[in-house]
Amino acid sequence: MELPKFVITDLRSQLTKNIEREFREEGYRSAILDPSKTKDWLRSSNKTDAIILSGGDWSVYAKGSPQPPKEVWTAKRPDGSLLPKLGICYGHHVLAWKHGGSVEARNAEYGKTIIELVEPDFPLFRGTEPEQQVWMNHGDSVTKLPEGWRILARTRATGNIAAFCDPTGTQIGVQWHPESTHSVNGRRMLANFAAEFGHSKDWNPGSMVSSIRDELRERFPSGNAIMPFSGGVDSSFVAYLAAGVLGLRLFGMTIDADNLRRYDLGDAKKHAHITGLQHVVINAHDKVGLFACTTDAETKRKAIFRNQIYVPPIVRLKDEKDARFWLQGTLAPDLIESGETGGAVIKSHHNTGINLGIPEYSPLKDLFKYEVRALAKAEGLPESIWNRMPFPGPGLFLRVVGIPVTHELLECVRDSNDIVEAILRRTPEVWDEISQLVVAYLGTPMVGQKGEGRVYRGSIGVRAVKTIDYMTAEGIYFPKDVWKEIERELTKHPLVVHAAPYSTDKPPATTEFE
Ligand code: XMP
Repeated sequence: MELPKFVITDLRSQLTKNIEREFREEGYRSAILDPSKTKDWLRSSNKTDAIILSGGDWSVYAKGSPQPPKEVWTAKRPDGSLLPKLGICYGHHVLAWKHGGSVEARNAEYGKTIIELVEPDFPLFRGTEPEQQVWMNHGDSVTKLPEGWRILARTRATGNIAAFCDPTGTQIGVQWHPESTHSVNGRRMLANFAAEFGHSKDWNPGSMVSSIRDELRERFPSGNAIMPFSGGVDSSFVAYLAAGVLGLRLFGMTIDADNLRRYDLGDAKKHAHITGLQHVVINAHDKVGLFACTTDAETKRKAIFRNQIYVPPIVRLKDEKDARFWLQGTLAPDLIESGETGGAVIKSHHNTGINLGIPEYSPLKDLFKYEVRALAKAEGLPESIWNRMPFPGPGLFLRVVGIPVTHELLECVRDSNDIVEAILRRTPEVWDEISQLVVAYLGTPMVGQKGEGRVYRGSIGVRAVKTIDYMTAEGIYFPKDVWKEIERELTKHPLVVHAAPYSTDKPPATTEFE
């Protein structure tokens, strides 16, 4: 398998994920990347077929408006021509503006709109009607095209420029949202774009699963394999893929260092059973003492969690089973964040850069999480697997912040997480929005009154984020009554005097508190 060949540069639109889904359902994979990751991606790979610039709730002139990196404008195909582009809504403005066109705050259009095709034979419009309904949502408009560019469609009622292209027909802008179901031919247009500018179709769950299994069969015809197994979507899907080939040659291991939420171990056992993985649980509760003298996140991730808690049992399992290779659920974004595609190191993932002296195979290294979810779903695995919220490998060790980790604080975080989840699950309009929930003990002592009088204790931070790729995220606000209930319940704990919601977007914040 290879990395996706379409890049969707996310300029912070609510609909970006729909673009990816529409392409996928037409058989094409795409990588959703924010502008800085787009830069890393284009610098390190010359296999991109085309770039889609998403919409976004911005004006190109606004301070801080998201801008594609300069590599987007200079990246070339092997024949030396510019990479084809499709700018959608705000992406359409950016595309015209960057090439000398004008964008102005006028001709706003919202909702269902009829357009007239000026060039009905243009490939993007193949198989669609000369007049058709699209879905618009914009305040600014392109009012003048760059020199030599041409109009492909107009809004019927006003004559606004609704679509354009450059003289080569490869730099295309559409003012509407083809990824919205209200654009009646939207899917068809994306498919036309993909067929015109893409390689062959590359999304086919059945063949992707068999190609990973074939590779496993070829590379590892004999010998045992081991894999760390959290029971999350990535490791469960790796287990599912590998167990189908290796059968009784595969052994998975979950380490319980008292750093798991109440239900994680049960889920891991259940998911091991479902995926056919032989599974052992290593109890490492005695290792919590290692954290007595540190509050530093990277020390926890690397020196302690990785080297002293995570690696020794894996090495023991390797020796015990005489393993010849090991498997990991590392994804494409993990490699991007760890700097392995050429960009900056955001954080050292607890599971990258480990050398066990035997070959490592990461069958998901070319996939994004939304693709793993879609594959796991297509393969018929249960929702508890494909829809599972991510949980970081070091677990609750990252959720006791600014104070050394102890069993008592871990138990407090577990209790708090139970409380918050129970309340939010009763509020589906909030719960269903959440991509990841973080409940953490924040150790800064603050004064409070707890029955007997004045005490100094920490607080519980609650953070819910909505995200597509976990590289950028939007903080979610809780309704006041829901938050009041959470706060009241959390502060009953003797170690907690405050509770606070943290809704800052990533960036500048991150998903986790450390
Ligand atoms: P941040 O906090 O960087 O996290 O926005 C992005 C996603 O990665 C998870 N995360 C980790 N996962 N080991 C992991 O396996 C780690 O050290 C680690 N740190 C963060 C985080 O929970 C979120 O899903």
